[in-house]
Amino acid sequence: MAPSVQQLPEEIPVVSSEKIVPIVEKPAEEKPAEETPKVKRQIDLEGGKTDAKYPQYLPTWNHGQKYPPLEKFDYIEHGKDADPTFKDLLPEGSKIQKLTPSIGSEVTGVQLSKLSAAGRDQLALLVAQRKVVAFRDQDFADIPTKEQLDFGSYFGRHHIHPTSGSPEGYPELHIVHRYGPTGSEIDSFFANRTSAVSWHSDVSYEAQPPGVTFLTLFDSPEVGGDTLFASQVEAYNRLSEPLKERLHGLKAVHSGFEQAQFSRDRGGVVRREPVKNEHPIVRTHPATGEKALYVNPGFTRSIVGLKKEESEALLAFLFNHIGRGVDYQARVRWAPKTVVVWDNRVTVHSATTDWRTGERRHLARITPQADVPTETPYVKVEEPVKA
Ligand SMILES: [Fe+2]
Repeated sequence: MAPSVQQLPEEIPVVSSEKIVPIVEKPAEEKPAEETPKVKRQIDLEGGKTDAKYPQYLPTWNHGQKYPPLEKFDYIEHGKDADPTFKDLLPEGSKIQKLTPSIGSEVTGVQLSKLSAAGRDQLALLVAQRKVVAFRDQDFADIPTKEQLDFGSYFGRHHIHPTSGSPEGYPELHIVHRYGPTGSEIDSFFANRTSAVSWHSDVSYEAQPPGVTFLTLFDSPEVGGDTLFASQVEAYNRLSEPLKERLHGLKAVHSGFEQAQFSRDRGGVVRREPVKNEHPIVRTHPATGEKALYVNPGFTRSIVGLKKEESEALLAFLFNHIGRGVDYQARVRWAPKTVVVWDNRVTVHSATTDWRTGERRHLARITPQADVPTETPYVKVEEPVKA
């Protein structure tokens, strides 16, 4: 089967054909039915009461929300001139520990919401270097939503996801939510699939895809639902020099059309019309100068200028290479009050849908957009001289 065809949504979706609750603004006779916005609320699906720890962050899907196409904005790379000693981010008493040599760190003793501008700059650099960092014991879930969003906006313009649910009044928050003792959605998925692993870089189809990205935990299963990350820098580094050289100069098409159609087909929202964009297959990070593969099975469809079979074969190789690279992947286990921060430009990630207990998994993503992906010329890495 063609690897360039999306097999899975970004997350197994939570849109369903369950009841849709109309917003009653005026008596029905005063307004044509087709113009009435419809909103579905998770809390209504749970019968009006919930055991969610943070019910204010449960998703709603508002069919009345429509946003125009995104326009270009000027992005500031805060990691570029950050102090590499991280003295404002990791003060005395904090602790940082690597999860693996090439990707992933865990930090304790730091409160993200209290960081100075210098500390935020250093956060951008640290995350660019380590690719993903789990910060434990954070207060993000308990501070006002506006404060979370103000914090996130330092790193770029908030992305409003075209097909996700969000808390009322905060469309910028992308809610990840799964709950249900019957597990019917998961059961029906696994009736036809062997695994739900779905590597992707969030909304890579945008002209300016996200960079430093934050995910805050509200509820999680006691065990299960870890998030997997792979380093696209190390995935690039592992390739042979001839293949690296060949990939330079090539662009790939990233598409949001299938995601939008997937949502439409299930009665979900499409808040902004889908787009396609071409991005370099090898992109260079503006702060670290590292080169990274920038293709992912979630959204990358074809390679510009190659014939169909060539494009499919090369993408199939790259997707397989990224997905099987357990030696450049990290697995983040969630815990209460954890905020995971990753650089979406140099990583791919996947949820693991491995718990069948019906326990709630509930998180909110803050997704600042970043630079237009660019590449720098190929530079040959010389083999070390053997003594
Ligand atoms: Fe994602």
